[in-house]
Amino acid sequence: MSDLNLLVIVASTRPGRAGLPVSRWFVDVAKGHGGFHVSVADLAEENLPLLDEPYHPKRRNYQNEHTKRWSEKVAAADAFVFINPEYNYGIGAPLKNALTTSTTSGTTSRPAWSATGQCPAASGRTWRCRGRRTR
Ligand SMILES: Cc1cc2nc3c(=O)[nH]c(=O)nc-3n(C[C@H](O)[C@H](O)[C@H](O)COP(=O)(O)O)c2cc1C
Repeated sequence: MSDLNLLVIVASTRPGRAGLPVSRWFVDVAKGHGGFHVSVADLAEENLPLLDEPYHPKRRNYQNEHTKRWSEKVAAADAFVFINPEYNYGIGAPLKNALTTSTTSGTTSRPAWSATGQCPAASGRTWRCRGRRTR
């Protein structure tokens, strides 16, 4: 087992979401691979409010426990997989909010893979996940 931490982010939150069984399947496959420590962040359970921090995340001067908890999870990851629905041709609001909340928690240059759909609003220097591996 390597020391690499893979964080699987379940980005859909709606009741009956297909993303949950897809994520469970993926987690089993990833654990079977054996090359990572696999953990899951389900945005339905993270329950992050719409951005409620007073400072830009690059300062890491978080005021709220939910932001500290979330940013620690993100910071601990070496790579990400987004189980991400496409809603109205783009990224869903929960993932956009989660990315905004932690956008500079050391995420630059870590590999990201979007397992479903596209996330054009997340494409950029820090988070890039247009259905291909990036770094
Ligand atoms: C509000 C809403 C908007 C959607 N918009 C798109 C879309 O723009 N393009 C697309 O291919 N599918 C779209 N879909 C289909 C979803 O991608 C599909 O239902 C997927 O299973 C959603 O993931 P979830 O089940 O984990 O929520 C949309 C579904 C919903 C509920």
